[in-house]
This record gives sequence, C-alpha cells and structure tokens, in this order.
Amino acid sequence: MRDELHCRSVKDGCSPQGQCGCCTVWVDGAPRVACVTPVRRIAGRDITTVEGLPDDLRCRWAGAFVQTGASQCGFCTPGILMRLAAMASSRAAAPPTREAVEATLRAHLCRCTGWQSIVEAADLALAAAPSPPADPALRDPLLASWRAQLEGPAFQSSGPEVVLGDAGFADDTAPPGAAVQLGALSEPAPTLRAARAGTGRVQGRNSTVPLSHPVPLPDGDWELTLQTTWVEPAYLEPDASWAVPAGRPASPLANGGAFGGKRTSPVPAQARVLADAAGVPTRLLWRREDVVRLGPKRPPLALGLRSDGTGAVRLGHTAGSPDLAPLAERIAALAPGVLAEVVEITGPPVSADLRGSGWAEVLAARHALAAHLDAPLPVGQGRADVTLPAGGRAVATLDAGATPRAILRLDVWAGEVLCPITLRSYALGAAHQALGLVWSEGIAVGEDGVPLDLTIRSFGILPARAMPEVTVVLHEGDIWPVNGSDAVFVATLAAAFEAEGLPPRWPTRRTGGRAHEWPVAPSEA
Ligand code: FES
Ligand code: FES
Repeated sequence: MRDELHCRSVKDGCSPQGQCGCCTVWVDGAPRVACVTPVRRIAGRDITTVEGLPDDLRCRWAGAFVQTGASQCGFCTPGILMRLAAMASSRAAAPPTREAVEATLRAHLCRCTGWQSIVEAADLALAAAPSPPADPALRDPLLASWRAQLEGPAFQSSGPEVVLGDAGFADDTAPPGAAVQLGALSEPAPTLRAARAGTGRVQGRNSTVPLSHPVPLPDGDWELTLQTTWVEPAYLEPDASWAVPAGRPASPLANGGAFGGKRTSPVPAQARVLADAAGVPTRLLWRREDVVRLGPKRPPLALGLRSDGTGAVRLGHTAGSPDLAPLAERIAALAPGVLAEVVEITGPPVSADLRGSGWAEVLAARHALAAHLDAPLPVGQGRADVTLPAGGRAVATLDAGATPRAILRLDVWAGEVLCPITLRSYALGAAHQALGLVWSEGIAVGEDGVPLDLTIRSFGILPARAMPEVTVVLHEGDIWPVNGSDAVFVATLAAAFEAEGLPPRWPTRRTGGRAHEWPVAPSEA
C-alpha cells in the first residue's frame, strides 16, 4: 500500500506485528490490519483507505477529530478513523455506546491522546444527526499549534489534513524510488520489498519474563521507597528519515515531539551518510523492534524519602547513554533535600529528555507522601496539587475505586489557554501516560541488558477501557501561556501513587511479563 501504490495514509507503526492498528484499511468494507494481510487473500476484493472514503464521510470524521482534539501527532489516526467509520455501516439505528466504541478501539494503540477524546469524536461522527460545523474560533490553527508547541514541545499541526493521514511524517515524504534501509544493521536495497526480503521476517516477541527493578535502593531509614523499571516512551511513529546526497535529512519530528524520545535520534544523520555513500536518495526506517532495542528508555530509579520529603534517589545510567548529571542537578533544584546519584547499570539506552524523566517520579512521590502524612485518604483515592517552576499548575483528584469506572478530575492552570481543545487533549494524554507509568507500563530486559519485550503490545500502554472517566477544567490565566501537561503528568502520578497505597514498586498492576494480557479495567485489578 505505502510503497507500490504510494498510499501514505496507511501508517506502519509495528509491521509485521499486527498490533498497533495504524495500518487499518477496509477489505470489502470491513476493517483489517494491512500489515498481516497477505496479498493473495485480497485478490479481487475492494480495498478502501482514507483517501477512498466518500467526501462527506471523510469531512465528517475529520471534523469530529479536529473538534474534539482526538488527534495529536496523528500517526494512529487514519487507522482508527477507518475502524470507527466502519462501525457506521455495521451498527443499528442507535449510536454505539462508549463501551462499544472502546471495545472497537482494542485493535488500536494511541500514545498521545488518552482515548477519551477519540471516544468523543466517535460520538460526534456517529450521532444520528450530523453536528453543525465547529466554531472556527474554538480551534484557530495557529493558537492550536502554539499551545501544542508549549506542551510537546515541538511543532504540531492539528488540522484535518493530519487526521486524514497527511501530517508530513518523514517516511511519507520520501521521494518515490528512494533506496531503503531497514533498521540499523542491514544494507540499503532498491525497494522496501527487497529490504524486507534482505532482513528476513522479524520476530514480534514479547516475553513472559518478569519486569525487573534494576537500581538498588539507597541506604537509609526511609518513610517511603520507590523503584521503577524499564519504560518505553512508546511513540507510535517509528524513527525514520530520508536524504538526498549532500542534502538535509528529513526530520523524524515532523508533527510532534515524541515525548522527547527522538530528540537525539541518530536516524537523520545516518540517512544522510547512507545517501552520500550510495549517491541516490535513501530512506532509513527503524522497525518497531529496532525502536525498542535502540531507542531511549526512562532511567530506572530507586528513591528513599523521609517524612519531611528529604532523601536520596539513584538514577540508572547505561553505557553509551547521555550523561545524567544534569538530571541529577535538576532534581536537586526541584526537590531540595533529595540527593541524586547516578549509578551504572546494564541495559538499553536511557534519556533525561523523555517527559519528566526521573524528576517527575521524585516530585510525585514527595507530593504523595506529604498528602498521605498530612490527611490520608481512603484506599483508592488520591489528590495532588502540583505547581512547576515555569508556572504550570494542576490538581488531580482520582477515585480509582469508583464504579463502573474510575473517576479523575483535572484542574489545569497554564496561563493564557490559547486553544482549549488542544490544552484539554494534552491534559488527557498526560494523565493517560501517568496512569500507565504507575499501573501498567514496563518492558522486560535480560541480564545482558537487551530488551526482551519487543512488541508494541508488551509496553503496557493503557487501553481505552482501562481509563477513568476524566473531567478536565481549564482555568484561564492572565499570565503568558506556559506548559500545563507536565504539571498534569506529575499530579496524576502522585494521585495514582497515593490511591494505590504508596506501594514500593511501579508498575503496580502487572505481574510477570504478561503485558499482552493487559487490559484489565482498574476496578478488576
Ligand atoms: S503496522 Fe499494522 S498493526 Fe501496526
Ligand atoms: S495521536 Fe495517537 S499516537 Fe499520536
């Protein structure tokens, strides 16, 4: 689809694992993931992509995603759109329930949005009566981009073109006929098909090995301890770039910041080297397994805190990773009285660039401990009020035991709001990542330091049905706009940690290496 028909709305987030849903198309009107569908099975059948939808349907869905902020980087969106749009033809007269939409979304992963806005987009698009066009003032593209850039932080557009698969991702803009290299070690080949043949079929493995907590606790008499594991940033668009000889390589950050995970990606420089050596335009694509093996993880850490919030934290550093001394200094500045020490461990690359790497865990633990000692809440409940030095503030109030699903309220102050839809979307996404970090995320790493869980489903990303009902209240500020989602991230971490009863290890709701068996709803955990 992508390489021979140049149909670039069909994204490749994990092929041939068949687990992310980004490549979903219709086969005779029914949604199918293209990357595990052999061509022989579709002989004589109709394949429909976003480009082939009737205009009114395409506009309706694009409008619904834009109005609800259901697309951020947009890499997952065309596949999700195709899956949800198929519901319209198969459903009865009544619009589907939230549960039905969430069940449909089980075939997909989205890292950015936190799901709720996607469910809202489905509600809007599948409503019996088409909704009126959105008030353009609600989502001025420039204000939306400005807000996204504060939250990302990287350029991001949120318009209909992104929803429909035209966000300008590096591998979508490569010139037809460019040579292709897959992964770090193979040779460039004239076509993707030849490159795949040259590398053989990748094994989409996830292990049953238990998660490890590789950093030992600092010595001391602690009121609270916390150890974390190896966590994937899990951005959906794998690292990719292309270059012409002597030309500037395409950025792997065309529409969003990948939570800091690609800030030092070597792929653009390598694409340029390959193109210069071959003398022809050359694409470099990392497969999902390459991203897991070579991409940066959050530094695992071990923290001990006394009742007054002072203590010590050890940050796990691996050979070849960037220096973590600046992160230790940042923690010392953000959490006075917490001594940060970098320790060497064996494992994949780690990075302080990832959202809140290290410092968010420390701040969240301090907030959770202080709240617990000050006025303990019943088990299952947590509340945190976090203000970060740049001015962003968030209050997260979580009732994890509520039925039929957990409830999370987020109050957010981020200066001038600029675009409420964008800020709300980022708040939802930050809460989703924070809950995943406390509850479910982590990959197994072998004693030799090599990741064992190589499939995208093994990362423990929370699915739609495991998410609480989230209410976001945005408080317009009279200060210059500042980042708000980092404060949401820390506040939600703290509230979730407190609600779990301050257990000594994250993630709290997984046993062994059974990430692929997640989801269970939090209430079932
Ligand atoms: S690329 Fe096909 S399911 Fe992920
Ligand atoms: S918008 Fe879903 S992965 Fe980015």
